[in-house]
Amino acid sequence: MSARSGEADKPRLLVVEDDPGLATQLKWAWDEFDVTCVGDRETAIAALRQHEPDVVTLDLGLPPDPDGTREGFAVLDAIMELKPDTKVIVASGHGAAESALRAIERGAYDFYRKPVRIEELALIVRRALHLAALEGENRRLAARVGEDATLLGSIVTGAPEMIRTARTVERIASADVSVLLMGASGTGKELLARGLHAASARARAGLVAINCAAIPEHLLEQELFGYEAGAFEGAHSAREGRIEMAAGGTLFLDEMGELPSAIQARLLRFIETRAVERIGAATAIPVDARLVCATHRDLPAMVAEGAFREDLYFRLAEVVVAIPSLAERAGDAPLLARHFLARFAAEMNPQIKGFAPDALAAIDAWHWPGNVRELENRVKRAVIMADGRLVGAQDLDLAESGDELALALNLKAGREQADRKLIRQALSRSEGNISSTARMLGISRPTLYDLMKQYDLST
Ligand SMILES: Nc1ncnc2c1ncn2[C@@H]1O[C@H](COP(=O)(O)OP(=O)(O)OP(=O)(O)O)[C@@H](O)[C@H]1O
Ligand SMILES: [Mg+2]
Repeated sequence: MSARSGEADKPRLLVVEDDPGLATQLKWAWDEFDVTCVGDRETAIAALRQHEPDVVTLDLGLPPDPDGTREGFAVLDAIMELKPDTKVIVASGHGAAESALRAIERGAYDFYRKPVRIEELALIVRRALHLAALEGENRRLAARVGEDATLLGSIVTGAPEMIRTARTVERIASADVSVLLMGASGTGKELLARGLHAASARARAGLVAINCAAIPEHLLEQELFGYEAGAFEGAHSAREGRIEMAAGGTLFLDEMGELPSAIQARLLRFIETRAVERIGAATAIPVDARLVCATHRDLPAMVAEGAFREDLYFRLAEVVVAIPSLAERAGDAPLLARHFLARFAAEMNPQIKGFAPDALAAIDAWHWPGNVRELENRVKRAVIMADGRLVGAQDLDLAESGDELALALNLKAGREQADRKLIRQALSRSEGNISSTARMLGISRPTLYDLMKQYDLST
């Protein structure tokens, strides 16, 4: 065990810097971190093993090649080989742009151009620490969930809220109850419905889906219930409806909140009798289908307003599953972004190797009003648009990237904004526990209280 008495709670930072004056200055300025300073490759690698830092700031110009970048890159390569999860922030004044790109391609987290402005560098370090904490947490959760962090075969998540949702769906899959999936658009309602079906005893028979919002009322009725020959003009021969097609399997009714009231009544009759009356038929055909519905509307509220039949609601919603929005799933946006990037890069643009740090920061910060669907579309678009090896923040075209500019223009305002965001995320991550929030952020409890007061934040 390492003996860092009194420093145990602080995030560990390794400063690789051959200018002893600067190293001392950083050590003094950064009492919020547990800082170790080293000045050359060999001691850097030794310190990496001994201290296992979360973040490394790395000066590229190290002896015996202080004016070049060879030693710095060698240290970077060694870190990526030994501890690839370490966030390395490369600092250099030599040929900045070119070294930056090379460093990031070789696995660095971010790049910093000398001369060092301590507060600005501290901000980058804090962000890197925050990301490292989220990634660590996601890895732990993923390890608990299964190798590739997928649930129900296809749900990618590391967030406790979503894991709970997926587990619920898994659990109720085998009970033959009707299920109502409630969630905002793009949260994965259809994916969960398909996962539920696949995990149920009805998996061998099909899942038949129909979107109640996409089809005009009279066609929807024909689609659902089918018709007999001669039932109406143009009905030359009989046709079975989707309900019949779902016999033995699952009927997935998407956008349930849009179901017209005449069809609501007809659907209720089917559920009560478990038999379908085709349009124009004299008799009903028994059908055994499990019902799974989804909606982005507040169906209970619609029931209260009289816009949706209460008796039908209770038949459809024997179990209600609420799906959290993407913004409520801490750490999931970067996790899903990587998942989609790997997929789309393989399909459409194999030279893309990953995200630039500014892109990951923007993904983590964005509020994702269109949820996973929006994330998927943005990543797809970015993979197509990006012309380097990395997808950058500007390829994602998120409005928040403007924040970066504001940051450069007004460091103080930018810092406050970033601090506020970090504190809010850490608070929600630790469910409002002040001690663990302070620990996560690497600051003391009194400092956290002060900041929360200053920014008007509560638990
Ligand atoms: N947790 C997840 N892991 C992986 N892919 C996901 C996840 N959630 C959603 N997706 C993908 O995001 C897209 C949107 O999901 P889905 O269609 O299931 O959402 P929805 O809630 O039905 O959306 P809408 O309201 O727009 O119909 C799909 O391509 C789906 O495969
Ligand atoms: Mg859908």
